Amino acid sequence: MKITVVGGGNVGATAAQLLANQELASEIILVDIVDGIPQGKSLDMYQSMPILGSDSKIFGTNSYELTKDSDIVIITAGLARKPGMTREDLLAKNAEIVGSCAKSAYEYSPNAFFIIVSNPLDVMTYLALKVTGLPKNKVIGMAGILDTARYRAFLSMELGVSMQDIQALVLGGHGDTMVPLKRYTTVAGIPITDLIEPARLDEIIARTAAGGAEIVGYLKTGSAYYAPASAAVQMVESIVRDQKRVLPCSVLLEGEYGINDTVVGVPVVLGKNCLEKVIELKLDAEETAMLKKSSDFVRKNIVECMEMVGLK
Ligand code: LAC
Repeated sequence: MKITVVGGGNVGATAAQLLANQELASEIILVDIVDGIPQGKSLDMYQSMPILGSDSKIFGTNSYELTKDSDIVIITAGLARKPGMTREDLLAKNAEIVGSCAKSAYEYSPNAFFIIVSNPLDVMTYLALKVTGLPKNKVIGMAGILDTARYRAFLSMELGVSMQDIQALVLGGHGDTMVPLKRYTTVAGIPITDLIEPARLDEIIARTAAGGAEIVGYLKTGSAYYAPASAAVQMVESIVRDQKRVLPCSVLLEGEYGINDTVVGVPVVLGKNCLEKVIELKLDAEETAMLKKSSDFVRKNIVECMEMVGLK
């Protein structure tokens, strides 16, 4: 297994380190345009492997030759938010960066699966699909696992119970319109609505939807990276180990949930063929309306992005 991580910033480097720790690939290539950064970080990580007991080899580079024949490419390149910015404020700049990174990576690894992490996430995943021309099962975005993890962490803090017993599902775009589903949130099988008052649950849901901005507010110079990188690595693990995990990921929908030609987060099965199945839930009227609002918002940004880059 050979995995390329494009973008040597906080998300990319943390993802590379986690992949190596878990020995999910024998070779990991970290690519970044800044001379010395991917080389230095990779060598540092390589030197941590004897301590961590992993035989993964990590190399840093400024060009794509070393990435040749990767099995999986994770794209984290692009600008991160600063306080006060929405993810959509990054669209123009990151479309340029993600478009060119996806194209270059694809030229060297035409058989790879692509996992997109750059923001605005759903739009960048759509862009990577178009730029590479790959089928929809091979280009997927990381967001739902992150949003769900935030939700689960907040619920665990609230209830004082293990995160492992909290199951939850967040649908929709990765942004303010995301759709945390109360009906599908349980603690060891107990409906969350039996454990938390409605008004308090709504507060926790609102905090989840603004979870990225909360971290940006603290960091000031960038956005979250430990949880985003962990989420991307969980997707890799399910693919590499053919686990068939059921995880919320951003994928191209063509009719599922009544949504067309739009990338949004839905529960999917990830296995050795990357996206193996989209799970369609029977949503109630309120959930359907929330998901439609979210996908309409993403769709509008997709159209804007495609016009910007001159693609259809
Ligand atoms: C977040 C950014 C990375 O949600 O989108 O933290």
